[in-house]
Amino acid sequence: MKKRADGKKVMLVAGARPNFVKIAPIMRAMDGRFEQFLVHTGQHFHVRMSKVFFDELDIPEPDINLEVGSGRHGEQTAAVMERIEKVFIEQKPELVLVVGDVNSTMAATLASSKLRIPVAHVEAGLCSFDREMPEEINRVVTDVLSDVLFTTEEIAGLNLAAEGIDKKKVHLVGDVMVDTLFDRMGAIDACDVVERLGLEPNEYAVATIHRQSNADDPKVLGTVLSAFDEIADRIRVVFPCHPRTAKRMREFGLGNGVVTIVEPLGYVDFMKLVKSSRLVMTDSGGLQVETTVLEKPCITLRGTTERPVTIEKGSNVLAGTNPDIIIRQAFAVLEGATKNIEVPKLWDGHAAERIANIIGEIVE
Ligand code: UD1
Repeated sequence: MKKRADGKKVMLVAGARPNFVKIAPIMRAMDGRFEQFLVHTGQHFHVRMSKVFFDELDIPEPDINLEVGSGRHGEQTAAVMERIEKVFIEQKPELVLVVGDVNSTMAATLASSKLRIPVAHVEAGLCSFDREMPEEINRVVTDVLSDVLFTTEEIAGLNLAAEGIDKKKVHLVGDVMVDTLFDRMGAIDACDVVERLGLEPNEYAVATIHRQSNADDPKVLGTVLSAFDEIADRIRVVFPCHPRTAKRMREFGLGNGVVTIVEPLGYVDFMKLVKSSRLVMTDSGGLQVETTVLEKPCITLRGTTERPVTIEKGSNVLAGTNPDIIIRQAFAVLEGATKNIEVPKLWDGHAAERIANIIGEIVE
């Protein structure tokens, strides 16, 4: 992918694994139209959480890596703000584009707004209404400060209106994660991860858990893992384990059950694992979207979701972290319970093109 063209400079900010999945199609759609400058904040730094995604998704090398690494929320947010402000001052972008709801997203938005550089937020308005989740706080701050807000589904626009955001700033464009999924479908179909892990298609469940409220509480993490173990008596459960969760499991002495724990996987491997599975159990946000598009039953291990459309139209159910509900929902899927899945409007693989066109109207 070419990164530069003569023209107005758009600065893209990405820091954590799901951000990379989102910026890939946007950079491709903007290629040749704008000068692009990519900032990697360094929030995620492990090869399997970052470099693998750049390689597999053809994302150009970042122009700068701020190397903020891990830390408490205040520390990590402040480190991004302090370092990115200097980059904004030097580079003078016409627009800063941020994605998702991680600490890097909010930090870049705060620094940019204070310099009065316009901010465009991709994935605006996805409210969980749960301020216990750091992601909700990040999103609220990002949305209120953003000048252009790109939404993935209609309900997000209604949420933003309820939060008092001028609807002239809001554009419904669809979901860029779906763009990436469609773009990589050939590689996903050709991928042999199922064989490599010694699994049979449709004869295993995929589990992931990494949210702060689930991973950092020994009681919650222990309970969810014991539910996975009970489900693993009926079907193999494969658990690609996020570094946060791996660290906590070591600290709490958990993870000695029958679940197959593997290292975090790259994008193509992981999507193939999901596509060939019988069901998914997760606390991820993006995976609720991907399972809807792949028509896989998804049991969400949280009490709220910022993507209710995946419940209304997809096969997502909220189980929270109650083991009885998780097990009951999983067994229902194994016993053949199905739902009609409808892919939401504009989840068609062209969201990034719509974003590039709207940005073109603003900065070109
Ligand atoms: C972050 C996001 C979360 C998102 C997730 C996707 C915030 C508040 N949270 O959570 O919304 O769903 O990314 O993965 O921004 N670590 C490593 N190597 C890495 C990255 C992290 O070992 O490359 C470990 C460190 O121990 C670190 C911990 O994971 O302390 C948490 O990392 P952090 O970036 O703070 O949050 P995530 O849990 O990854």
